[in-house]
Amino acid sequence: MTSMDITATSEWAALARHARELQAAGVDLAGLFETDPDRPGRCTSTAGELVIDWSRHLATDETVELLLALAERAGVAARIEAMLAGEPVNVTDGRAVLHTALRTPAGEAVVTGGVDVAPAIAAERERMGAFVRALCSGERRGATDLPIRTVVNIGIGGSQLGPAMAHEALAAFRSGDLECRFVSNVDPAALAAGLDGLDPAETLFIVVSKGFATAETLANARAARDWAAPVLGFEAAGRHFVAVTANRRRAVEFGIEPYDVFATWDWVGGRFSMGSAAGLAVMAAVGEENFAAMLAGMRTIDEHVAAGPAASVPTLLGLLSVWYRDFWGIQTRAVVPYSQRLRLFGVWLQQVIMESNGKRVRLDGSPVGCDTAEIVWGGPGTDSQHSFHQLLHQGTTVVPADFIVLARPDADVVGVAGAAERHEALVANCFAQAAALAFGSPTAEGDPHRELPGNRPSTVILAPALTPSVLGQLVALYEHQTAVQGAVWGINSFDQFGVELGKTLADGIAADLQAGTAPADTGHDPSTKSLLAHYRRLREL
Ligand code: F6P
Repeated sequence: MTSMDITATSEWAALARHARELQAAGVDLAGLFETDPDRPGRCTSTAGELVIDWSRHLATDETVELLLALAERAGVAARIEAMLAGEPVNVTDGRAVLHTALRTPAGEAVVTGGVDVAPAIAAERERMGAFVRALCSGERRGATDLPIRTVVNIGIGGSQLGPAMAHEALAAFRSGDLECRFVSNVDPAALAAGLDGLDPAETLFIVVSKGFATAETLANARAARDWAAPVLGFEAAGRHFVAVTANRRRAVEFGIEPYDVFATWDWVGGRFSMGSAAGLAVMAAVGEENFAAMLAGMRTIDEHVAAGPAASVPTLLGLLSVWYRDFWGIQTRAVVPYSQRLRLFGVWLQQVIMESNGKRVRLDGSPVGCDTAEIVWGGPGTDSQHSFHQLLHQGTTVVPADFIVLARPDADVVGVAGAAERHEALVANCFAQAAALAFGSPTAEGDPHRELPGNRPSTVILAPALTPSVLGQLVALYEHQTAVQGAVWGINSFDQFGVELGKTLADGIAADLQAGTAPADTGHDPSTKSLLAHYRRLREL
């Protein structure tokens, strides 16, 4: 199979020409609004409960037309439809990509490889619910018959980022009966913090690892067992561990009872897995109903996309990122939620976009010939305004920004004195930043130091409140954008071979460190040998 070179198409050439014309004409946002009073309305879209204002982009109607033509030429709609239909679109791993199946309503079939996977999803969801009910009611107790008070999720990457982000985002919906903590880093300080103040008799570990082979997760899971075993006994400590994995055998070998192993599947990519049993800790914290509402929110956007992938909002936003990346030479995108509890959203999104689309070859292995994923970074507003916004406004690098803001304060702070005013201040700051970026300041009395040039693009995503459903909608909005970007570039958004070499090298270096091999006698490259020598010397100081 030979992949199409999208950069060699007339649609790509037309966009390149169009970009050059806009750039030569000095297209500016203020001018776009001045000459087009309908722009704010026309360039505001809805998807589910999300209102997406994309009017402050360096794009005209013609740009959008040309981008949609590019998407059509790239076969974006067909790629998205194939993904939703369970075809093996992850060609390098030979797998379907069916995280959308996790949010399919009960009773609807989802067939992949000739098998309807819906019953397995429903059965696992039921097991998750039963487990959470048993945990919260005290029916599932620890080995010494004490109720479980704390759940510690041990996992990394997709087995932590989404669940930790959702757990934080949905703080207002936690029942409060059970505390949930997340440990990912192999740095011993991470587990130490995760275990601080806990009693092994009242603690349950959820080891989340799709492959159950991730070094950090296994090291932390072993260390957690070593922490619990002296208090509870080795066998009894096993009762304090459950697993979420697609590799049941390895989890059982680790010592987890088969009935305590929750399934995930090959066709759910780790970074898209928060709707699977990988979200067990989230369900434990917020309850089955709220978890279901989050899935329903994701489904709302899936349906929006399925209704017409060619013109959906995620398609448009994905195309705008291609526009900047490939036709404006822009390298990064800032994601700034004006919500304290969405502070981990950008961290989650970094894996979704950068692990998915940080690729340099097309499906057939040929070089892409254009730039792919942008670097995603950011942090919560208003804190971000006192940190990196200076660069957004006056730096020499243009950074398109995504602002996310909620119309109402979080449910649990609505009644707090002054919350409404402070929330309004939050919203005002968000809108002000988008305006300042777009329109800048008039030459401030001729003082160039004070001048903000403006003309810097942003999207504002406005939602009613940070509910489980809205969170699900936001997640799916970005998941689908990522798939659209990948489809345009003709890359596989669903593998991640780039992370493997580092793991192999780390294994070899760790083995040498443990064996005490003299750096010069190792088989590593000269710079690593030199680092090893410095490391030894510093260790011995
Ligand atoms: O970083 C590589 C990666 O494979 C991610 O894709 C994945 O989310 C993470 O490691 C954890 O993998 P696992 O769930 O198999 O432990």
